[in-house]
Amino acid sequence: MYNMSRGRRVYLIYRQNGSGASANSAQRVFFFFFCEGQVPKFAHMNKIKKRIGVLTGGGDCPGLNAVIRAIVKTADNDYDVEVIGFKDGYEGLIDNRFLEIDSRNVSGILARGGTILGTSNRADPFNYPVLQDDDYVYLDRSSQAVRNFEALGLDALIAIGGDGTMAASAGMVKKGLPIVGVPKTIDNDLVGTDVTFGFDSALVTATEAIDKIHTTAQSHHRVMIVEVMGRYAGWLALYSGVAGGGDIILMPEFPYDIRGVCDAVRTRNAQGKTFSIVVVGEGAKPIGGDMVVARKVKTSPDALRLGGISHQVAAQIEGMINIECRVTILGHLLRGGTPSAFDRILATRFGVESVHMAARGEFGKMVVLRNNQMESVALEDVAGKLRLVTTDHEMIQTALSLGLSLGCPSDVPFAEFYTKLAETH
Ligand code: F6P
Repeated sequence: MYNMSRGRRVYLIYRQNGSGASANSAQRVFFFFFCEGQVPKFAHMNKIKKRIGVLTGGGDCPGLNAVIRAIVKTADNDYDVEVIGFKDGYEGLIDNRFLEIDSRNVSGILARGGTILGTSNRADPFNYPVLQDDDYVYLDRSSQAVRNFEALGLDALIAIGGDGTMAASAGMVKKGLPIVGVPKTIDNDLVGTDVTFGFDSALVTATEAIDKIHTTAQSHHRVMIVEVMGRYAGWLALYSGVAGGGDIILMPEFPYDIRGVCDAVRTRNAQGKTFSIVVVGEGAKPIGGDMVVARKVKTSPDALRLGGISHQVAAQIEGMINIECRVTILGHLLRGGTPSAFDRILATRFGVESVHMAARGEFGKMVVLRNNQMESVALEDVAGKLRLVTTDHEMIQTALSLGLSLGCPSDVPFAEFYTKLAETH
């Protein structure tokens, strides 16, 4: 429908059918004209500058700026469309806080961690916390968000975020906003995409940390427990455990049996290996036990903040084996720093494709990576769901083939044990 080759400019003319502030995205009709070195007559005569909005919601991660940069450059180069960025996720849309972004002010941000727009993981437009008399009341501010969007003359919104942002976006689509979602999170737990950007950078940081922990573990003959983020998903623990040469990996999806963990340490000792590395996902829990909640953020859609299970694991191991344990919790370190090359590429591809999707009028969808191709899924199919590690995942099989303990009793096959456990709980 339009030509994307370099040096050719695509002109976009927009017509809104229907009336009223909440015209549905289906009523918005885009016309595309492309030219090869010349401006089409009709487009040239009727050209109106279009505008799209972008926001980053949820916890930050490396690669957010790479997406923003790709969006701004694609909007400018391929469509001659302006971009405004809302500050602090949906908060900015609700409170009308934004800045205009053009190719000049995205220069140099590709390699920068965090987000130049700011973010918030408490800005659900349908349940928006407002401080009143020293306490929070929760208001539905979604109509205010729609009014601001329309007053700014926006033609599309690109929402970059995790499951919370995608759920809010699915709701805003129902209110008539033309939204394209872009998946980010170090947790890698969004359904529909093979991977989210941010995950690889966090994996690199975790792996480097585990590498460093190895030398001190070896010198002191200790069990070193490294706790990584990931919330309810064990992807970061599993991948960094394998990449960093961990010996035991504990994930939220598979409640651990402490005897199995201790057996693995003893087996290593019997083989003359006087240290062990345990990589623990922050959402891990013992069989019959609970996740460790570090704090509750009551204004956040998911109030629980996990962290600290590694201290429990250390105490349990020391209670059963005469060996010293030490704990390292990597925490927010995993969200910081420059994005890896993989994440820069993925974030850039997502950013470019999200603008093309907006131009094609593909709203209510999230761009995804599947089999290394850019595809899309409905936001509704993403909202409220989590992609978790399963017993049959190839990486689980890989870890087991390497002889790693994944926290199950040493005398029972892993898949069999957790299938039975799932049936009885
Ligand atoms: O979802 C990303 C994440 O870093 C999780 O891994 C972690 O549990 C959570 O965010 C921490 O949130 P906060 O930034 O509010 O402490």
